[in-house]
Formats: sequence, structure tokens, C-alpha cells
Amino acid sequence: MNSEINTADSQDILLEVKGLKTHFLLSEGVLKAVDGVDFTISKGESLGLIGESGSGKSVTAMSLLSLISSPGEIVGGSINLHYDDEKIDITSLNPSGKDIRKIRGNDLAMIFQEPMTSLSPVHTIGAQLEEAIFLHRTKNKSEARVIAIDMLRCAGIANPEQRFNAYPHQLSGGMRQRAMIAIALSCQPKILIADEPTTALDVTIQAQILDLIKDLQAQFNMAVLYITHDLGVIAEVCDNVAVMYLGKIVEYGAVREIFKNPKHPYTISLLKSRPRMTKRGTERLASIEGSIPIPIDLPFQCRFADRCSEVMLGRCDIAEPEMSQAGNKPGNNHWVRCFLNEKLD
Ligand SMILES: Nc1ncnc2c1ncn2[C@@H]1O[C@H](COP(=O)(O)OP(=O)(O)OP(=O)(O)O)[C@@H](O)[C@H]1O
Ligand SMILES: [Mg+2]
Repeated sequence: MNSEINTADSQDILLEVKGLKTHFLLSEGVLKAVDGVDFTISKGESLGLIGESGSGKSVTAMSLLSLISSPGEIVGGSINLHYDDEKIDITSLNPSGKDIRKIRGNDLAMIFQEPMTSLSPVHTIGAQLEEAIFLHRTKNKSEARVIAIDMLRCAGIANPEQRFNAYPHQLSGGMRQRAMIAIALSCQPKILIADEPTTALDVTIQAQILDLIKDLQAQFNMAVLYITHDLGVIAEVCDNVAVMYLGKIVEYGAVREIFKNPKHPYTISLLKSRPRMTKRGTERLASIEGSIPIPIDLPFQCRFADRCSEVMLGRCDIAEPEMSQAGNKPGNNHWVRCFLNEKLD
């Protein structure tokens, strides 16, 4: 099923992930954080990656940038970056070599949930921006300063000339997030990976940061991989969404289609657990039965079987479902990994 998931023109594809497996070799056993993940990202696309805590979203993102360190390891699959005349498989590069360093920033850049973990506390925002610009854009110092100040302005930082000389601790949380976005975007990456970039912020700042990413995406024609557990964020900014559970994508499709017509019981539960206003006011939130297990020594069965309200004993507990197309329309860009979908067919 893997390559069929995407219906975009192959010439528009920027990134193609196939059968990605990233495991952690622990003394208790092999923790299969990412265990056969497939997706593609096309030019200008916003793809949302959603799933409960521990489903493998961040490990997927870190794998794309080859930032997995021991005891973690990419043990299978490929991550192909498409250029006009060639493809480069990131998994084949030395994780600390110069080729991947060039890709980080130039092609793929990442913003993290907590900016203080990626900003250096002992360098000014300006110095950190200039360093990124020197590495990827220009060696000319005064030109780099102009680009840096311009990026701070683009990221919505008022008085960028003064803020250029500020240290991260002198900025508010929202401003630090903006500074990190400015650094990530200063190299004009083709794909921005945003891993929960707004969860540490209050709601108004959250909305501003989302708007900022959307604006910059349009301005620079950038693709964005948006990682979040917030379905509202997905609805607001994404074209397509991949729902992840225990190391696998269990449902994939256009956001509108998935919200309107979810197929996987896990996606249905996620949607039900979202706060909504109804005619009768607010409703009590549904929660998903049980909790996500640690992916060590998982039995060979559907990964959601133990928590699924629709489980079919003798089917879901003895085999793992493959991804299959949902609905009867040929070319329907909606895929689901569930035996119920096969039954309906
Ligand atoms: N360095 C590590 N060593 C061991 N296990 C790890 C490591 N990093 C992640 N894991 C495990 O991999 C699995 C996936 O973790 P990951 O951080 O990708 O989850 P996530 O979907 O990003 O969750 P969250 O929404 O909480 O950020 C989890 O079971 C986690 O405990
Ligand atoms: Mg995470």
C-alpha cells in the first residue's frame, strides 16, 4: 500500500518516507517507537501528524533529521528527499557528517515545543540567527545581519534591531517561540517540521503563532509537517492528516474527509474526545478506554485491539491489518488500517 497513499503528482513530492522503523534497544527489550511508517510530503503541503502521547510522533520527526542517538536507531525503511534530478536517502547518510548538516536547515528545519531546549542561553538571538544564515545563505557579515533582522520582523518580533541583541532569557515565551521560528526559517527550508510548537503557549499567542506559520508558509511556498495532539490545530492549518498509534499510521487522508468521515475506531475516539460547543452547551468529554502501552514485545495483532470498542475477536487479535483504501470511489485519498474497513469492502 505504501506508495499508493499519496495521490499527488510525483514531481511535486519533496519527501517520501517508506517503511520507516526506529527502534530503541533497551535492556528490557526492543522498544519499537516507529514501526513501519509511510507518508509523503509535497510542495507547499501541510501534513498533520496526530496521535496520543507516546505514539511515536517526535521519534518520527527526529528520524527525518537523522537526530536519533543511541540506544535509538533507524533499523529499516527509507527517507527520500527529492531534488530536481536526484533523490537522497537520509537513512544512508552519516548522522554527524556534512551532508546531513547541509540538509538540516537548507531542506528540512525543525521547531520544537520548548524553545529553550534548542536555543543557546549564552548567545544572543541575533548571533544564533547569523550563525544559521552564515551556514546556509551568505558569508557576508553585513548581509547576514540584514537578513537576520528581516527574519525577526517576518516572525512578528517588534523592534527587531533591539531584539537582535537580546539573550533568550530576556524574551517572553511567545517571543522565544517566534525567535526559534525565525532561526528555522532563515535558511528558507523546503519543509518545516513543527513539533507541538504551541502547546507551551497561552491560547492567544498560540493562535498568533499558527497564523504566523501559515503566512510564512504561503510567503515562502514551504511544506509543513505539523505534529500535534490538538485536533483543532489540525483543522486550522493542515491539508492532510496522518493519525499515528503505537508506531504506525492507522488512518490517512484529507483533513476534511477524516473529520467528516473517520473510519478507524481510534480516530473516531480521538474526535469524540475533542471539546466542542453544542446547542445544549458543553458536553462531557469522551475519553479513550485504557492507555497507550509501551511498544515492547507487542503481540502480533491489531495494535489498537485491546482498547477498541469494535474489536472482532478471532480477527483483530490474531493478525495485523494492512492499510487499505476507504470508500468505494477509485482514487479516494483516504486510507485506513483496520479490519472493519476490509469487512465493509
Ligand atoms: N530516547 C529514548 N529512549 C527510549 N525510549 C524512547 C526515547 N525517545 C522516545 N522513546 C519512546 O518512544 C515512544 C514514542 O515516543 P515519542 O516521543 O515519539 O512520542 P510522541 O508521540 O511524540 O508523544 P508526545 O505527544 O508525548 O510528544 C515512547 O514509548 C517513548 O517512551
Ligand atoms: Mg512528542
